[in-house]
Amino acid sequence: MPKIKVQRMENIRTMPNVFEWSDYNSKNPFPKGTWNSEIFRNPNPIVLELACGKGEYSIGLGKLYPEKNFIGFDIKGNRMWVGAQRALQEGMDNVRFFRAYIDHLDQFFTNKEIDEIWIIFPDPQLKKNRKKLTSQKFLELYRPLLKKGAKINLKTDSDELYYFTHEIIQEHNLILHQEIPDIYEERSSNPDLSIQTYYEQMHLKRGRTIHFISFSFD
Ligand SMILES: C[S@@+](CC[C@H](N)C(=O)[O-])C[C@H]1O[C@@H](n2cnc3c(N)ncnc32)[C@H](O)[C@@H]1O
Repeated sequence: MPKIKVQRMENIRTMPNVFEWSDYNSKNPFPKGTWNSEIFRNPNPIVLELACGKGEYSIGLGKLYPEKNFIGFDIKGNRMWVGAQRALQEGMDNVRFFRAYIDHLDQFFTNKEIDEIWIIFPDPQLKKNRKKLTSQKFLELYRPLLKKGAKINLKTDSDELYYFTHEIIQEHNLILHQEIPDIYEERSSNPDLSIQTYYEQMHLKRGRTIHFISFSFD
């Protein structure tokens, strides 16, 4: 592994705004249900950015909505370091990062603790539907953790993931809030969609179309 990656992985362990978890069978579980009372120390809504990479969405939304709390979630510590470092430098109290597998999200959040989820350019997992972050398996993981009406927002360049998610919404009678086949053609005035991540910039340079879809369980 390149030296800089190793350094960043070690460095995030010392950062006050980063949590890291790897022992999913630990006898000392994560203190679920304390995000508002102990970690953010405010009653504000909690928004997750899944597959956060360098955390551009947690930082960008954190600035747009200082009255909300944001947690960037990913397994890659060297990417997360970039966002965590920036949040510290900019003194952002409403942003945290969590390095762990999303598959274990229910070990870190209690029922109805989360107000919204953003899934930003996740790996499309073309060959394995179960691994897609909007598959039935993952939706059942998120469902109990979400407050009533909590939205799940997906931004992707993958046609397959976009249409797959659309089908899941229809199959399971979920509530579709918005779908934009091409956010740049639409010229959406939604500032949330104008935040560009590392992967989005890469896809745009390659002429890819960026899709957006937003839905909820109830
Ligand atoms: C294509 S990158 C996108 C990163 C970022 N959102 C962006 O747009 O630049 C996908 C990210 O998802 C993360 N990821 C994929 N599956 C994951 C899982 N099950 N748990 C945690 N992170 C995961 C990867 O580590 C990677 O950083």
